[in-house]
Amino acid sequence: MRVALLTGGGDCPGLNAVIYAAVKKGINKYGDEFIGFLNGWKGVLENNFIPLTLDAVDGIQLTGGTILHSSRTNVKKVPGGIEKVREVLQLNKIDALIALGGDDTQSVTLALTENGLPGVGVPKTIDNDINGTDATFGYDTAVSIATEAIDRLHTTADSHNRVMVVEVMGRDAGWIAYAAGVAGGAHVILVPEKEIDIDHVVKLLKYNYDHGKHYGIVVVAEGCHLPEGGQVLGSAELDSFGHARLSGIGESLGELIEEKTGFETRSVNLGHTQRGGVPTAYDRLLGQRYGLHAIDMVHEKKWGRIAVLKGTDITDITIKEAISPTRRLDQRFYDVISDLEAKV
Ligand code: F6P
Repeated sequence: MRVALLTGGGDCPGLNAVIYAAVKKGINKYGDEFIGFLNGWKGVLENNFIPLTLDAVDGIQLTGGTILHSSRTNVKKVPGGIEKVREVLQLNKIDALIALGGDDTQSVTLALTENGLPGVGVPKTIDNDINGTDATFGYDTAVSIATEAIDRLHTTADSHNRVMVVEVMGRDAGWIAYAAGVAGGAHVILVPEKEIDIDHVVKLLKYNYDHGKHYGIVVVAEGCHLPEGGQVLGSAELDSFGHARLSGIGESLGELIEEKTGFETRSVNLGHTQRGGVPTAYDRLLGQRYGLHAIDMVHEKKWGRIAVLKGTDITDITIKEAISPTRRLDQRFYDVISDLEAKV
């Protein structure tokens, strides 16, 4: 078969591991040929691609980013976009498309398959918010990076008797804040699924200062709403999927905390460092397992389906199930956070 791959949306450590494994198994086991469209769906619309040979993917499973580059192009918003994709796939004699992406990218894969095109998905996002899968690759790397940053902030916060507010990614779901906050021993963990109770935050921080620890670490997800306010936007401009750029809640919350507690406060926004650099061993392995499954899905003509991790197995579900609703934290995770908080 002639198979095309693309990576869409925000990049994510482990994308290259998926590409590597799909191409390697596709060529060695099935005798497939591969191309990679560049810059996500944009590359399909522009018929811009590179050949993906064994040489081209050699060793990339160890690397971060994506050799195919990425964009947030929304084919559904482009007049005649779906027909253009059909034309480009026919022109290049493509028998199947493997799209690596989060819910936005997969909403395009779904629309294409509903229009009779052969596509499967692989769930990508550091945010870990795809429904129906126990983990997306990239999440473990992001959590490790955020945890290391929090570890480092303990000592400087302690030296200066300060509160440090750490902003992490997580637009709709607080998976990174939850995991890195717990692993990094944060005193306050704030996730978008729950309203911020500022009085409770103040009590938790005061508890530290009243009990011999003269600093505090607060982890806040970018998607949280300020108490009596909305989300904090880095830019009001919307991307082609209708999302505004979130950024800055850490700083705004830090100012509020300083005002309410009188403790000197600083904020750090970890931003895109969470998506950069090499994937962890876990994400390299998970990414490769997804890639191996994705090429099998292609040969089984499982159009409109997406690879998922269930327990220790890689299997697949419909893209429709995966992209709606967003997978969010629930009571079990809130309990972990509250059971580890100071008793105030
Ligand atoms: O990949 C998802 C995500 O990491 C979100 O948490 C974040 O809001 C967004 O990407 C930011 O992406 P960019 O600035 O690259 O558009």
